[in-house]
Amino acid sequence: MTGTTADTAPAAARPVVAIDRHGDIAVVTVDNPPVNALGQALRQGLWDAVGTLDADPRVRAVVLVCAGRTFIAGADVTEFGKPPVPPHLPDVVARIEGAAKPWIAAIHGSALGGGLEVAMGCRFRVAAPDAALGLPEVTLGIVPGAGGTVRTPRLTGVEAAVDLVTTGKPVRAPRAAAMGLIDAVVEGDLVEAAIAFAREALTRPLPPPVCQRPVAAPDASFWTEQERRIAKAAKGAVAPLRALACLRRAAEASFDAALAFERETFLDLRGSDQAAALRAVFFAERAAPRPAHLRDVAPLPLRRVGVVGGGTMGAGIAAALRDAGLPVVLIERDDAAVARGLANLTALFDGSVRRGRLTPAQAEARLAGVTATTDYAALADADLVIEAVFEEIGVKRAVFADLGRVCRADAVLATNTSYLDPRLVAEGLPHPGRFIGLHFFSPANVMTLLEIVPTPDTAPETLATGFALARALNKIPVQAGICEGFIGNRILKRYRAAAEALVRRGVPIAEIDAAMRGHGMAMGPFEAQDLGGLDIAFLQREGARQAGQDVPETLGDILVRAGRKGQKTGGGWYDYQPGDRRPQPSQAVTDLLAGQIAPGAAMDRAAIADHLVAEMAAEGEAILSEGIARAPSDIDLVEIHGYGFPRWRGGPMFAAARRAAVAG
Ligand code: 3HC
Ligand code: NAI
Repeated sequence: MTGTTADTAPAAARPVVAIDRHGDIAVVTVDNPPVNALGQALRQGLWDAVGTLDADPRVRAVVLVCAGRTFIAGADVTEFGKPPVPPHLPDVVARIEGAAKPWIAAIHGSALGGGLEVAMGCRFRVAAPDAALGLPEVTLGIVPGAGGTVRTPRLTGVEAAVDLVTTGKPVRAPRAAAMGLIDAVVEGDLVEAAIAFAREALTRPLPPPVCQRPVAAPDASFWTEQERRIAKAAKGAVAPLRALACLRRAAEASFDAALAFERETFLDLRGSDQAAALRAVFFAERAAPRPAHLRDVAPLPLRRVGVVGGGTMGAGIAAALRDAGLPVVLIERDDAAVARGLANLTALFDGSVRRGRLTPAQAEARLAGVTATTDYAALADADLVIEAVFEEIGVKRAVFADLGRVCRADAVLATNTSYLDPRLVAEGLPHPGRFIGLHFFSPANVMTLLEIVPTPDTAPETLATGFALARALNKIPVQAGICEGFIGNRILKRYRAAAEALVRRGVPIAEIDAAMRGHGMAMGPFEAQDLGGLDIAFLQREGARQAGQDVPETLGDILVRAGRKGQKTGGGWYDYQPGDRRPQPSQAVTDLLAGQIAPGAAMDRAAIADHLVAEMAAEGEAILSEGIARAPSDIDLVEIHGYGFPRWRGGPMFAAARRAAVAG
């Protein structure tokens, strides 16, 4: 090593930026674990490296590479709440772009946000085949702040840039090459390949720096159409439209003017409520899979998994396990049910093929990894068995009696119950320390939330295995205590009851749904019930009534008793025309509920949404005070990942805390 910027790093730490020379090519290595985020020391290191190498007459080109698992993954998000310290990233990128020697970014892992912006400041970009490149800023409530919206269209054209910048979705290297975002996909040793690329590039005239390349401006109708499309998809998130405005400026104004506009937008959004909410969600999501209280607990191995029940949930869970590469034994109660379970699984994999997520060969391999049988003996060697049979305590207990007999004493045994008390399900099970609730959400191979419900007997390593499973399945785990509905369904119950209370006060059903959609929810509470079916909650209430509990009659009960169970019966809270999922206000519902509803109350949509979200947060507070949830951010993750709560609002608990802070 002939030169480093170790002086910018803390004493005794490895240099964040190091320089090696390979003949006339310098290699600048960034080493800022865990993800080479662009904190101040790294920005300074890159700034200094340009100066050092520009001044070195032996160097003809510079390869920029990163140590560790990834290329630069972006700005350091932990710095966003603090005053910015120079050198600022746009200046660093401009300095690399203006360097006397051409820089070549050699990308592995992920080049995201500021990381991709640094790469776009380089004269060339090469990447390993499995590298990912993207501008995820909008998912953090901001826009790229160091030239991403201005340089991307100069490399890819405007249309591809709109996609990259307004969705925040990364692309793999081969696609990036096809778009013009990178110059080459390189195989083998990345540094060697990049040095070879540099030598070859030096034999020809250099292309101009990206800032000097032209961009073709689409006409006004293109922008109007994009605005309409993006506003619809954003459901209230502001960053995607602001990013589009930056791209339009990039296409229509000079490079410098567009850069200034982008920076102004970035700084404006960085301090916004939406960005604060999305940052909180970002860090909560990253913390969730590895909770601090289990740091010193090793999970048990997960090599073979059993699923009992191949219905809606069992098939979905089995598909999720197969997607993670785990072999699955699927147990059903008789041969016909085995065939139905396999058909359910086949339908799920076929769906993935139709959506282009799996090739037919991959789908076949997924299915081939499932052994479906009625014989519990097939579970003798399973490390984990997840029960997803009917929601009836007797049926579940019988299943666990069988599992207790056939499974290894150290096999983790889990129930997917929604509402039953897991302690009752586990009653009489030998080795109860291995029992746990694993509450998946439907469809289980798609929904990212997993509620993990230990009983008082659950051993720490069993709990840690639940979290390890979530990591293997790429799900967001949230630990929940035992109560009716755990975290998510308990809040859902309060939310629905509060929405019904508004209906009783005379607020129109359609107004409530519109208000919640306007708030950014995927659906309103009533149309969501029509989609899922009103009968599930009805049956649960009926069960409680039969068990002697005092459960008052709900408006939903009145509808179910009249045969209105939702879309599947042609009507629930709304009417539906055959083949049409659009809800139509229903005279039949008005008539059925007539005696229950006060004459029309006026409530504007914002007030409706505020009221219902406050109800969710109030239930969340109760859940916290009872120790059912461990932190407000856990409740927010449940609502965002399980119930379609808008990410950009941070979740009901975040929103309530924010409102309380503003109110002083
Ligand atoms: N800033 C600060 N910390 C970050 C970070 C970032 N940009 N990205 C990740 N981290 C931290 C995580 O919080 C986590 O910390 P922990 O170990 O203390 O929990 C650690 O790095 C590892 O992260 P992951 O567990 O997510 O690691 P993976 O290997 O699974 O994933 C990754 C790596 C794909 C890079 C993923 O971390 C990621 O997507 N990061 C976010 C990237 C991003 O959003 N970049 C854009 C930032 S905004 C920007 O650049 C603005 C610019 O335009 C000016
Ligand atoms: P389902 O009725 O679609 O499937 C249940 C399956 O279990 C059927 O295929 C049935 O043949 C099988 N089964 C019944 N007794 C069995 C036995 N003794 N041995 C083996 N298989 C048996 O029900 P669904 O919706 O899949 O629910 C299953 C469990 O998941 C329930 O506890 C439910 O509360 C829970 N759950 C359901 C969700 C949903 O949205 N449907 C969401 C989260 C949890």
